[in-house]
Amino acid sequence: MGAAPAHRADTAARASATLPDTKEERAARLSLLAEEVRTCQKCPLHEGRTHTVFSRGDPSSEVVFVGEGPGAEEDLQGQPFVGAAGQLLDKMIAAMGYHRDEVYICNIVKCRPPKNRKPEPAEMAACSPYLTAQLALIKPKVIVALGATAVQGLIGTSEGITKLRGTWKLYKGSIPIMPTFHPAYLLRQPSAKREVWSDLKEVMRHLGKSAPDRG
Ligand code: URA
Repeated sequence: MGAAPAHRADTAARASATLPDTKEERAARLSLLAEEVRTCQKCPLHEGRTHTVFSRGDPSSEVVFVGEGPGAEEDLQGQPFVGAAGQLLDKMIAAMGYHRDEVYICNIVKCRPPKNRKPEPAEMAACSPYLTAQLALIKPKVIVALGATAVQGLIGTSEGITKLRGTWKLYKGSIPIMPTFHPAYLLRQPSAKREVWSDLKEVMRHLGKSAPDRG
């Protein structure tokens, strides 16, 4: 594990120390952060990566979706949720009345864990300053946590997703989080789509957005 160069070791903290006034400034700060992530060696996951996977979508979005970590396709393309689970996530987002580029999507860890295993607690801890800075800059109205690892990385609970889903939690005492099932789970268990749709409708109610009549 290599140490970060001293002059940039605290970029993630600095990126969000004072909040941006404009959309452009926010986007510029997030680009700097993504640049830092590209050379990150804070945990062993950097050894196996093809690309870091920082985010996709609109940094001015009112809603941020947080997943677990990149899979094989995401590692190849450097973009979150572009594989099979991502295609399902895009459908979920469309069902809410958004285009996929209108929301912001990122992960707990920015490098692919080997064989798609769950990230280790130490890997999540090493990567968490990046997500903290992302969320501080974006200040979304709602975070949708996709799966247990996402909830764990955001608020530290180790409770199972079946128990957590559908009930609001709070991120850093201020941003509501809606935990729901991960789209990869829905690919294996399509009957759980009903619960996810109910969770997403709750998110829309919170945002004052009327649900398209489907599900
Ligand atoms: N699963 C995730 O949690 N994140 C991705 O980016 C892709 C699949």
